[in-house]
Amino acid sequence: MKPIITLTMNPSVDVAWEVDEMVPVRKMRSSPGQSDPGGGGINVARVITILGGETRAIYLAGGAQGDFLDELLEARGLNRQWIRVKGRTRVAAMIFERETCQEYRVVPPGPELSRGEWEGVLDLADTVDCDWFVATGSLPRGVPNDFYAQLAARLKARGIKVVLDTSGRPLYEALQEGVTVVKPNQRELEQLTCKKATTGAAQAELCRQLVEESRAEIVALTLGGDGAVLAHGGGLIRLPSPKVDVKSAVGAGDSFVGGMTLGLAEGRTLEEAFALGVATGAATVLTAGTQLCHREDVARLFAELRSAARL
Ligand SMILES: Nc1ncnc2c1ncn2[C@@H]1O[C@H](COP(=O)(O)OP(=O)(O)OP(=O)(O)O)[C@@H](O)[C@H]1O
Ligand SMILES: [Mg+2]
Repeated sequence: MKPIITLTMNPSVDVAWEVDEMVPVRKMRSSPGQSDPGGGGINVARVITILGGETRAIYLAGGAQGDFLDELLEARGLNRQWIRVKGRTRVAAMIFERETCQEYRVVPPGPELSRGEWEGVLDLADTVDCDWFVATGSLPRGVPNDFYAQLAARLKARGIKVVLDTSGRPLYEALQEGVTVVKPNQRELEQLTCKKATTGAAQAELCRQLVEESRAEIVALTLGGDGAVLAHGGGLIRLPSPKVDVKSAVGAGDSFVGGMTLGLAEGRTLEEAFALGVATGAATVLTAGTQLCHREDVARLFAELRSAARL
């Protein structure tokens, strides 16, 4: 199996603190702070690595925080390719308030890219050596909304399968071009189609339509704790979310993408790959803060889903 390539256009250094209580003006004494690498594609690559798959995370970073991000990725043994950019990589803050068990998240926009910088990434699409390419996350400032569409066109021309997890206009534009797998959540699906998707029937119909219009070969709609729907040329599959003790949903969507893409790249059936995605997402919900999944949890939840769904 060739490594699965992931792309992160706008990664971050995520710093998590705990305080007793959020109060204005007065200093809030916090825990020392835990730093983690952040960004959709980086998370997907970390999950694939945890599950024993081969991957390479391509990411754009710059400034002193870019060096720090690389150090964090090195410490996690991630196979990676750093594309240096002029702007400074962002720092995102997470503050957990012990008193209320609420999590506050502060996410700045990140650096603005020059035309030369984003065009350089598009050119990579002509040379990368992979069967599966995962593009996830928001686009940084300066990058046109049709960036993922242009990227998908160039990858597809080389027979590479494209998995996309993004939102808003970049998602819409990319689906005009068409991708192999798209993973919206309910909000992203509603924005994309300008329709409400509150009932199971409406959700299924909207996913089915995207496949029929060749906007994606496979649509995996995830609904948090309420299960997931998969539409493809052969029909529709639904899976419930495993009942788990929810610690933090941070990274659940990326974990789903990592599990499902690995399943597909390994040649599992579509049903199995879908179940592996659901199991991986649920395993990440079991861990606190920015931690992703443990391999044993994924294996256990995957086995439970397979036996319940008779896969
Ligand atoms: N409360 C939960 N209980 C069980 N599993 C969950 C829960 N929340 C999320 N998951 C798992 O994670 C997967 C992805 O979660 P979700 O639908 O919340 O993605 P998302 O909205 O894209 O998340 P993100 O904010 O990470 O982008 C779900 O399909 C499910 O497998
Ligand atoms: Mg998501």
